[in-house]
Amino acid sequence: MRTGRLVVAITGASGTVYAARFLRMAVPAFDEIFLAYSHQALEVAELELGLPGFAADPDPARLAGLPCPNVRVMDPRSYFHPPASGSFTHDGMVIIPCSMGTAGRIAAGISDNLVARAADVCLKERRPLVLVVRETPLSLVHLRNLTALTEAGAVVLPASPSFYNKPQGIDDLADTVAARAMHQVGFTPAVVPPWQYATP
Ligand SMILES: Cc1cc2nc3c(=O)[nH]c(=O)nc-3n(C[C@H](O)[C@H](O)[C@H](O)COP(=O)(O)O)c2cc1C
Repeated sequence: MRTGRLVVAITGASGTVYAARFLRMAVPAFDEIFLAYSHQALEVAELELGLPGFAADPDPARLAGLPCPNVRVMDPRSYFHPPASGSFTHDGMVIIPCSMGTAGRIAAGISDNLVARAADVCLKERRPLVLVVRETPLSLVHLRNLTALTEAGAVVLPASPSFYNKPQGIDDLADTVAARAMHQVGFTPAVVPPWQYATP
């Protein structure tokens, strides 16, 4: 049964733009979004998106470029937030972008912050967990961790933009990844229609 609630985490991999574009799609689609940034995510967001002061005041509306009244920002150091508990029901968790550090901690069951704990809860409760991972190249350690996560039920969704819809810029490219993540939690945004086969 759908709850209209989504958990979103933004970690310190390159690609905060994926998170920004994902929030633009998710905010109108869900009733409530529980959002956690890792400490490193805030630093990377400031750098990549040129958002001065964002680390001190990480207002999701600045990322998404639209009002976010239904987004609740959680302290990643505190476990006193609903997604830390299995008894809190929601429609899934998307980590976008997901660093190899966070992927490794989840794969090893090390719940040393709220992001890793909320993901651990998804795995144990068999709820959708989508990791939009970003690193290149991938080491054997990364590949083994991603395999373990897939075996445990997570969806590993590499931040690999597609080009067949002829994206016009970075936001369009990022939308091709964000839309795939939305699809995994039950929505197919009109902004990136599914590919239609046409004979050339
Ligand atoms: C500018 C910048 C870009 C980074 N890009 C990546 C990346 O693409 N993938 C990755 O796994 N780590 C990347 N890192 C390293 C992570 O931020 C680092 O491993 C951190 O400990 C991850 O912590 P977190 O998962 O709690 O955010 C980057 C760091 C910086 C400063």
